[in-house]
Amino acid sequence: MSNENGFTIWFTGLSGSGKTTLAEQVARELRVREINVEILDGDEVRANLSKGLGFSKEDRDTNIRRIGYVSRLLARNGVGVISAAISPYRSIRDEVRRSIEADGGSFIEIYVKCPVHVLARRDVKGLYRKALVGEISQFTGISDPYEEPLHPEVVVETDQESVEDSTTKILVALERQGLLSSADEVWQDTLQQQNLEVTIHSQELTIDPQEVCG
Ligand SMILES: Nc1ncnc2c1ncn2[C@@H]1O[C@H](COP(=O)(O)OP(=O)(O)O)[C@@H](O)[C@H]1O
Ligand SMILES: [Mg+2]
Repeated sequence: MSNENGFTIWFTGLSGSGKTTLAEQVARELRVREINVEILDGDEVRANLSKGLGFSKEDRDTNIRRIGYVSRLLARNGVGVISAAISPYRSIRDEVRRSIEADGGSFIEIYVKCPVHVLARRDVKGLYRKALVGEISQFTGISDPYEEPLHPEVVVETDQESVEDSTTKILVALERQGLLSSADEVWQDTLQQQNLEVTIHSQELTIDPQEVCG
């Protein structure tokens, strides 16, 4: 397991496409594999690290650069970083990729793809309705640009896949990149640990009676 090196999983996609949902699912799976994980979720970052920033291109870029910067610091200390922000602009995503890769880290871009009309119907946070009637301006996909990734490591199509399907797709990609053990290896590790415990236990059992007899 290349846990020591850390890596950055970078979700990008429209509001409501599934970034937070998948970030949490993937984080759970990574923690099972004893990887230290930190999620940098767009909404949370905007409430803290990027508090006060708006939705102009300049502010969006600043927000993403900050997430990229923190991701790089965490990843180089062995953390599996998961960024889950819209990150609508390709050039800034690529800039973040370059800075992390220059540091020797892996950057896995995941395009969480879903058509706008499905998202408007899904409307998890009621934002599409507001954007469509003009109550919110600069809303990505409605009144603000979203630039699709050209070469993402993974594309998940959340209008066609279940959360489990998309999570599996991402985990398989991480395995292929050598960033985590395959499910089989994890299972084997668990079995080995159990065997070890059984062995230790039976050693104790054989030693104890001797001690008692002696
Ligand atoms: N394959 C999928 N992956 C992720 N979310 C999905 C998927 N299919 C349906 N959904 C649903 O889409 C919604 C995504 O919301 P959320 O994760 O908050 O989006 P975002 O963080 O991108 O704004 C959730 O209600 C989730 O249950
Ligand atoms: Mg979210």
